[in-house]
Amino acid sequence: DGDVYKYYADGEWKNSSSGKSVAIINPTTRKTQYKVQACTQEEVNKVMDSAKTAQKSWAKTPLWKRAELLHKAAAILKEHKAPIAECLVKEIAKPAKDAVTEVVRSGDLVSYTAEEGVRILGEGKFLVSDSFPGNQRTKYCLSSKIPLGVILAIPPFNYPVNLAVSKIAPALIAGNSLVLKPPTQGAVSALHMVHCFHLAGFPKGLISCVTGKGSEIGDFLTMHPGVNCISFTGGDTGIAISKKAGMIPLQMELGGKDACIVLEDADLDLVAANIIKGGFSYSGQRCTAVKVILVMESVADVLVEKVKEKVAKLTVGAPEDDCDITPVVSESSANFIEGLVKDAKEKGAKFCQEYKRDGNLIWPLLLDNVRPDMRIAWEEPFGPVLPVIRINSVEEGIHHCNASNFGLQGCVFTKDVNKAILISDAMETGTVQINSAPARGPDHFPFQGLKDSGIGSQGVTNSINMMTKMKTTVINLP
Ligand code: G3P
Repeated sequence: DGDVYKYYADGEWKNSSSGKSVAIINPTTRKTQYKVQACTQEEVNKVMDSAKTAQKSWAKTPLWKRAELLHKAAAILKEHKAPIAECLVKEIAKPAKDAVTEVVRSGDLVSYTAEEGVRILGEGKFLVSDSFPGNQRTKYCLSSKIPLGVILAIPPFNYPVNLAVSKIAPALIAGNSLVLKPPTQGAVSALHMVHCFHLAGFPKGLISCVTGKGSEIGDFLTMHPGVNCISFTGGDTGIAISKKAGMIPLQMELGGKDACIVLEDADLDLVAANIIKGGFSYSGQRCTAVKVILVMESVADVLVEKVKEKVAKLTVGAPEDDCDITPVVSESSANFIEGLVKDAKEKGAKFCQEYKRDGNLIWPLLLDNVRPDMRIAWEEPFGPVLPVIRINSVEEGIHHCNASNFGLQGCVFTKDVNKAILISDAMETGTVQINSAPARGPDHFPFQGLKDSGIGSQGVTNSINMMTKMKTTVINLP
């Protein structure tokens, strides 16, 4: 009906002076579902100004009061799970049940962050000088953590709510203000989530949400002198941001090519179940999805057969019907996935299912006998297509994993825990899961990527720490 969702600034919902909007295409119908404001650079400047002002008094607000407001926001968020989940279904085609889970998980994350914050930020450090050579006990050093200032949060389309609150909550509990630039697909879900923070009664200007075209406000935001820290989750854009950003801390998570190494003694039923969950949940559109299977030749036939049986049972269709496999986020994403599939076909991969596509919907596909000369051996499809590379030694598997430019997570399946730990040590990734598929959660676990997969570490505690700075005061005794 032409209605355009307002953006959020200074504690109010506003129309942009640009008079322009950005359309959000429903991945299932491929028609415009919602429209959001196309904010201008001038509006971004205003948001930055009020974020700076609001932060000054927020930093002086007692920690327990900040926590109280976050707990309130968490409860409101959970109460609003149904309408927010509905937006996730329409904007990013997330299966209905997973969409609800995302919102509930987000509420829990906000509460946990509030609790963790009062504990770790309520503690400081006290040092005395005479432990360092040449010093008498004449200096007392008091350290505590102070906020960085204004945090810019840029979450991706696949978790527009959860990966937004995983930045908002630590920023706020630590005394920062926050400017959110949601992904276009997922912007309306994010605006609804922000509304829950609005209802909780945070001070004006402390949180704002600007929507718009990346081409107009993207670089402007990330290079803005008012930003004191960027927390970004997404794709290659992160690398570009890291080159352009000023001298500020960056927290980044930029995708992965998570390997699943399967040894000869592995429980193959467990492996198959985890490959399905790890490779095909949300149609493979997760940074932590299993993106390449490296299986020992001697057990490969049996494993591929077991996975094939399970793939045949996956339901394919609309997110409203809670199907396992739903349309991927955009037509360009579907085209990219198709490119990888065609390349694998030309180079002789074995198709375990027929390749099938209807609009943005791609049927789940397992590609066996993938070789290193195929693009899919290295590139991230972000879709329901999974390559199998047969290996003749564990070293070969580790070598493939470490030759990747990514290093997010990985997993290894074996009953020999000692071997698993040695393999984990050898894999150049931020996390290795033993006998389970890669995953970020539970959300208080550390989460980080090596190489092109990211900068810094996330997880509740690490995010709070990354959004603070040490401040020390030294008392000099006579
Ligand atoms: O794709 C984003 C990444 O953070 C994945 O999270 O919970 O699906 O492992 P999760």
